[in-house]
Amino acid sequence: MHKVTKAVFPVGGMGTRFLPATKAMPKEMLPIVDKPLIQYAVEEAVAAGITDLIFITGRNKRAIPDHFDKAYELETELEARGKTALLDLVRNIVPQGVNCIYIRQAEALGLGHAVLCAKPVVNNEPFAVILADDLIDAVQPAMKQMTSLFDYYQCSILGVQNVAPEETGSYGIVAVQTMTPSLGKVEQIVEKPAPAVAPSTLGVVGRYILTPRIFSHLESIPFGAGGELQLTDAIARLLHEQQVLSYAFEGVRYDCGSKLGYLKATVEHALQHPELAADFKAYLDQRCD
Ligand code: G1P
Repeated sequence: MHKVTKAVFPVGGMGTRFLPATKAMPKEMLPIVDKPLIQYAVEEAVAAGITDLIFITGRNKRAIPDHFDKAYELETELEARGKTALLDLVRNIVPQGVNCIYIRQAEALGLGHAVLCAKPVVNNEPFAVILADDLIDAVQPAMKQMTSLFDYYQCSILGVQNVAPEETGSYGIVAVQTMTPSLGKVEQIVEKPAPAVAPSTLGVVGRYILTPRIFSHLESIPFGAGGELQLTDAIARLLHEQQVLSYAFEGVRYDCGSKLGYLKATVEHALQHPELAADFKAYLDQRCD
């Protein structure tokens, strides 16, 4: 009986869609109101009982380890000024007992390559992959829903959502044999197919639980779409030898890799923010009249 205790966060990407904001700053540090995207992803992992956070980083990503590290000067200053609420906030970004591990990916060779970089730390255990670009609001955090399923099924699970037919070219798309309204057995997976050849409209959206067998496939697949090592291609091989499930999680997902998705997430979070909600709603009402 295995448990998922490790999560991989591929954060080495260039973030070209948000230039110039991401020229010197990681896109994962873009805030949704007052919290960076990567912190939402980490909180989701921690809520799922994950204790080892493995960040696959690259150049220009120093702000990520700094964000999850102790900040001596800031903490001393907040303490001296008696700002205890803020002090608690910055001290408890990563709870006690949770480890942050950083692996530097020298070249941005794709999501599959980023995941393969985690092999020496993951070893022979099942693990989660969380893409911080996909922000998911849910009563029970999406990864927690998935680890609970893993506890029962003990196999790889892909978080999926129906996408618009014209958008299949932006996702890994699966064909499944339906088990329940939210669960399916994955029979096929294709990276970013054009709508005309997509096997369905069920897209993989940034949440994976994978068995360690994936590493052997990542080591043997050729470079795929976009000249990158694709995680999707390795999963396509995995499902010929192990069960892989698709799970349509409960929750609302924002594609924060796009400007529009990022703005939608910002507006929704501002409307739920304890300090801002009332004033922001009044502003929007007045603006939309
Ligand atoms: C990656 C994956 C794709 C997946 C998507 C989810 O693509 O390659 O299979 O559907 O994340 O967000 P990217 O968005 O990095 O191009």
